[in-house]
Amino acid sequence: MTGGSEIEVLFSAECIARRVDTLAQRIAARYEREFLVVVVLKGSFVFAADLIRALDRAGAATRVDFITLASYGDATQSAGAVTLTHDLTEDVAGCDVLLVDDILESGRTLAFARDLLAGRGAASVRSCLLLDKKTLRKVPVEADYVGFEIGPAFVVGYGLDLAHRFRGLPYIGVPRA
Ligand code: IMP
Ligand code: MG
Repeated sequence: MTGGSEIEVLFSAECIARRVDTLAQRIAARYEREFLVVVVLKGSFVFAADLIRALDRAGAATRVDFITLASYGDATQSAGAVTLTHDLTEDVAGCDVLLVDDILESGRTLAFARDLLAGRGAASVRSCLLLDKKTLRKVPVEADYVGFEIGPAFVVGYGLDLAHRFRGLPYIGVPRA
């Protein structure tokens, strides 16, 4: 079945919720005007949904747009090249942008997204990543805000999938072998 019994829990729903609130308070304090949250689909949609509501509670005014970037396919290894499979609908020129993504691993996805938005004339591009696998970095890029630093194990839940499964789990965990 597709339930969570085969998953070892790393971060509970409560733990994630507390961390999202803390991140939102820090981010809200950094912006003096409305900013554009660019959600990198698909993996970050659950995180982004919680984060924008936490940002609202923290007093921030946001707009939201979506971009789909692909580098993985069905495998658990990065394919290397990042491709844009669905573009934004908003013009980002002159906007303060907060990129929201699920996992920073090689850094290729974040570097690609950041360069794309900066190239289109965004006034500023900051990034908020739910998870950071620092030891697997291939490209020198860091996020401005990180939820949790983790080891190299493949993780699922809270929007993250393994071959399209487990996105609906309320917690983040590691599939048992
Ligand atoms: P990067 O381009 O190597 O930094 O890869 C980042 C992207 O790979 C993330 O946005 C995820 O979509 C995907 N990814 C990396 N590690 C995992 C994982 O453990 N579980 C699910 N997706 C992952
Ligand atoms: Mg992704």
